[in-house]
Amino acid sequence: WHCGPPDMVCGTKIVPAEDLRRCRGQEDRCSPGPRHVPAAAARRAGRAAPRVGAGGTGPAGERGVCIREFQEAARRIFYDGIMERIPNTAFRGLRQHPRTQLLYALLAALCFAVTRSLLLTCLVPAGLLGLRYYYSRKVILAYLDCALHTDMADIEQYYMKPPGSCFWVAVLDGNVVGIVAARAHEEDNTVELLRMSVDSRFRGKGIAKALGRRVLEFAVVHNYSAVVLGTTAVKVAAHKLYESLGFRHMGASDHYVLPGMTLSLAERLFFQVRYHRYRLQLREE
Ligand SMILES: CC(C)(COP(=O)(O)OP(=O)(O)OC[C@H]1O[C@@H](n2cnc3c(N)ncnc32)[C@H](O)[C@@H]1OP(=O)(O)O)[C@@H](O)C(=O)NCCC(=O)NCCS
Repeated sequence: WHCGPPDMVCGTKIVPAEDLRRCRGQEDRCSPGPRHVPAAAARRAGRAAPRVGAGGTGPAGERGVCIREFQEAARRIFYDGIMERIPNTAFRGLRQHPRTQLLYALLAALCFAVTRSLLLTCLVPAGLLGLRYYYSRKVILAYLDCALHTDMADIEQYYMKPPGSCFWVAVLDGNVVGIVAARAHEEDNTVELLRMSVDSRFRGKGIAKALGRRVLEFAVVHNYSAVVLGTTAVKVAAHKLYESLGFRHMGASDHYVLPGMTLSLAERLFFQVRYHRYRLQLREE
């Protein structure tokens, strides 16, 4: 697998050790590009990631350990990226929800009407922001728990074995610094890009863009007609990233139910997300 521009980004792939043995001489389902045997891909990945490895040519047990290390690192990057959403959703995200702002202003006015106390009224916004933080944390931790018990629990099983799925890690100096996954939806011949995240210490270096391009290559090579994704990210970075990769914004919804949400009244009052859909059409159907 190549170390494409920028120079420090090495896209590599988590290669299941037993698949590597089984597939020797067969086509590599996940590889972009002219197709090649996984053993060769793994050798190149092994060179790209000397310390962590990616299913290199060592003994099978050793490769298994490498994969477990990759999965651990991938889960850590995913976890950190999602945890950043807590303050972003609680505070920054409020700007996207004018009706909630109005409701909070009415609550403050009501407090003043009832108590006639400026001090208590001033405490209302602080209390509301505290509740927003509490519920954002609760929902996002529940979401993380769902993800860490489904696809992210066993990346190898979930992404490397089914046809049409794949998982890549970006490796820098032998350390995993970014992740992305692809999952095909055969019913509409699209590939979904998901789990994009880059270690905060290595952002702004083009790592996410390189990972995104890898998913696009994967979709082209496997003849899918479009790449789609959905995101509840509040910060501009994720949106700029997808736009810079050529995705079109297809709309946003305030009624998205995040896995892990209970939709209780308190959650509705103090936790809101906006779900953005993006699509990159590769060819006409
Ligand atoms: C979003 C994220 C993946 C970007 O990773 P990155 O490696 O820093 O991104 P890149 O360096 O590859 O930048 C790609 C593009 O995004 C844009 N971008 C990245 N960070 C930005 C920022 N802070 N502000 C504005 N634009 C930004 C740039 O315009 C760049 O395009 P360009 O090369 O044409 O200028 C990273 O910030 C992250 O992991 N965030 C937390 C998890 C997350 O939100 N993931 C997305 C979930 S859908």
